[in-house]
Amino acid sequence: PALPPRDQLGRPLRDLRISVTDRCNFRCSYCMPKQVFDKHYEFLPHADLLSFEEITRLARQFVALGVEKIRLTGGEPLLRKNLERLIAMLAELRTPAGQPLDLTLTTNGSLLTRMAQRLKDAGLGRVTVSLDGLDDAVFQRMNDVGFPVAEVLDGIAAAQAAGLGPIKVNMVVKKGVNDAEILPMARHFLGSGVRLRFIEYMDVGSSNGWRMDEVLPSAQLLQRLREAFTVEPLSRSVAGETAERWRISQGGLSSEIGLISSVSQAFCGDCNRARLSTEGKLYTCLFAHRGTDLRALLRSPASDAQIAASLAGLWSQRSDRYSQLRGAGMGPDGQGNAAAGERRVEMHYIGG
Ligand code: GTP
Ligand code: 5AD
Ligand code: SF4
Ligand code: SF4
Repeated sequence: PALPPRDQLGRPLRDLRISVTDRCNFRCSYCMPKQVFDKHYEFLPHADLLSFEEITRLARQFVALGVEKIRLTGGEPLLRKNLERLIAMLAELRTPAGQPLDLTLTTNGSLLTRMAQRLKDAGLGRVTVSLDGLDDAVFQRMNDVGFPVAEVLDGIAAAQAAGLGPIKVNMVVKKGVNDAEILPMARHFLGSGVRLRFIEYMDVGSSNGWRMDEVLPSAQLLQRLREAFTVEPLSRSVAGETAERWRISQGGLSSEIGLISSVSQAFCGDCNRARLSTEGKLYTCLFAHRGTDLRALLRSPASDAQIAASLAGLWSQRSDRYSQLRGAGMGPDGQGNAAAGERRVEMHYIGG
């Protein structure tokens, strides 16, 4: 069998993020702005999607190469029909040491109330829910389809009741749009067991019209938290983690929060994530503009061992560190990261 590969910067492969649909029922301004993703936008036709069998076959080879965590993403993954069936198939995979995977899913929460128990029963471990504010006007400005906060909160409660925890909530912060929601969100989830993570608005994709002046750097966010809570640092729990963890407390209640600072403090150094698109392209960086087609390989006579060898080869060639280079004011590195004017892969297509 192929050996667990290291990439050009010595990073192992641990985390596989699988996008199961490029569609979403939200139109978040930072991800699928309405002006671009309107009724004329062409999503992938069904025939282009990897089947659950194909996804599982690939996932099995990734696990043989060192993947320990699989995250299902989208678009909105709960829009993919019969997703429970895929979850049940992935839940059966075991690492070479015989361990089950950390099997998780990122969702906007809109369908969670009715699906949480089914997801748990199928073998899902936990969920991360995106929620960008507690005030309906602000949240609706972010999701841009008039979706109410209360239904997402119900979804979070349903996930908690189903045992899909520890639940994480992701809040993308856009300065001047939803930054007034930081403290209300932190207060709301204080003592609830939910781990709130604040994400710096990123220049991912090419559609969201990203501007640096809409980014609230995590250092400033932390200052705001300090005005309302006692804030203490926590250690990183695992290598390659995206979030810096902190404990906030007030009035006898406390919770863990996370700061995801890919703009102000890149975390490429130990990035161990690979991303598989809905149609079976492999991306070794969120900011890549080019993926490698694995669907053709899957639909060829290649054996599992040959597929594993190809994956190991792709990973060992990887040298992506886009956020770090951007942070250092360096341009495209000619390593598959987008050059100026080139279209980068979109977040709704590749997932978070
Ligand atoms: P947990 O294991 O639950 O902590 O998951 P995670 O840390 O992988 O977090 P999650 O998948 O929820 O990712 C949170 C957000 O971080 C994503 O929505 C992205 O905005 C950002 N993010 C995740 N991975 C990367 C990455 O590799 N590069 C960059 N630049 N941002 C990332
Ligand atoms: N910047 C930061 N996070 C983003 N997400 C989507 N687009 C962006 C962006 N431009 C996050 C969402 C969700 C996950 C799917 O990706 O908040 O948590
Ligand atoms: Fe949909 Fe998530 Fe993108 Fe919002 S961030 S449009 S919920 S995929
Ligand atoms: Fe990993 Fe690319 Fe994100 Fe850096 S920018 S952490 S290499 S996905």
